[in-house]
Amino acid sequence: MKSVKIIGVGRCVPPRIVTNDDLARIVDTSDEWIRERTGIRCRHFVEKDVATSDLAAESIQAACAQAGISPHQLDGIIVGTCSPDTIFPSTACWTQNRLGVHGMPAFDVMAGCSSFLYGLEVAANWVSAGGARYIAVCGAETFSKLLDFQDRTTCVLFGDAAGAAIVAPGDGHSGILASTWGSDGTQAPILAVPAGGSRQSASRATVDERLHYVRMEGSKVFKHAVRSMSQALVDTLAAANIEHEAVDLLIPHQANVRIMEATRERTRIGPDKVFSVLEKYGNISAASIPVALAEAREQGRLRDGDIVAMTAFGAGLTWASAVMRY
Ligand code: ACO
Repeated sequence: MKSVKIIGVGRCVPPRIVTNDDLARIVDTSDEWIRERTGIRCRHFVEKDVATSDLAAESIQAACAQAGISPHQLDGIIVGTCSPDTIFPSTACWTQNRLGVHGMPAFDVMAGCSSFLYGLEVAANWVSAGGARYIAVCGAETFSKLLDFQDRTTCVLFGDAAGAAIVAPGDGHSGILASTWGSDGTQAPILAVPAGGSRQSASRATVDERLHYVRMEGSKVFKHAVRSMSQALVDTLAAANIEHEAVDLLIPHQANVRIMEATRERTRIGPDKVFSVLEKYGNISAASIPVALAEAREQGRLRDGDIVAMTAFGAGLTWASAVMRY
């Protein structure tokens, strides 16, 4: 199999900032509680008329620009999201429409917050097998559209954004070294949007019962998150034959600073290696790793040749990890 690398990253964060104090005016919470329990200070929300594909298209355009290619040159578009524009068609097709390109396959992966790394796994295998040259992998969310602003246990956690990476053949010096992915459907009920699909189709009753919003058993998710993210990364580092001391940058999925810290401790990677955007964006789900990659690149924290470790968990429950030399 041929080596595969990321040749460009980009992001799109909507301009509207919502602080913890703003949320404390809507639900019974406080800036202090949110900061202490999650590490989040604020998040960005889209305006009413903005959909996930709008953010996705902009982030792919930015990633293509950094890679030095045009979106017309893409051989495939993969969008990871759990806040799609519509049940169908896919957000990837809406994104393609927005980009003004056509012909290449475009499809979604839905693996909660692991969706970007799931998409990366698919793209890497696709390019490695010789079936494509340039694939855009995007993690995009407008999670604010799924939040119940009467439920303080969830509405303070999430934000909106998109990040993208362009996957291309490697050059022998840099590329993806190893990856791991998996899921445990027995845990599907602990984090879900119960209605609006075929299990409970949309009706006046489902709307009245607020079943079109995110429902989460937070402490159960917390325990699974730490276990699955750390194990996935330990396995991936071992498969890549990389010692924890050799990691230059750790980008874990950014749901909660305590989950990130526990994951880091278990993998024995130094605290100075973690790159976080959680404080300013909240949990942006599938977008968190690509947005962090793009910002790390902008800030000079992600340099050519760096060993980058990424690990995620999400609704499903799913997990995924990848280690690359950038
Ligand atoms: N403000 C104030 N109080 C609150 C809030 C809030 N926003 N939310 C909950 N509380 C209260 C609870 O009601 C509870 O009160 P009680 O003791 O009187 O019952 C108390 O705070 C403690 O609640 P816990 O749930 O035990 O708080 P915890 O420390 O576990 O933090 C949290 C909750 C932040 C949700 C945590 O469990 C967590 O981060 N879980 C993981 C969530 C996650 O990562 N989700 C992303 C999934 S990824 C994807 O695919 C979408």
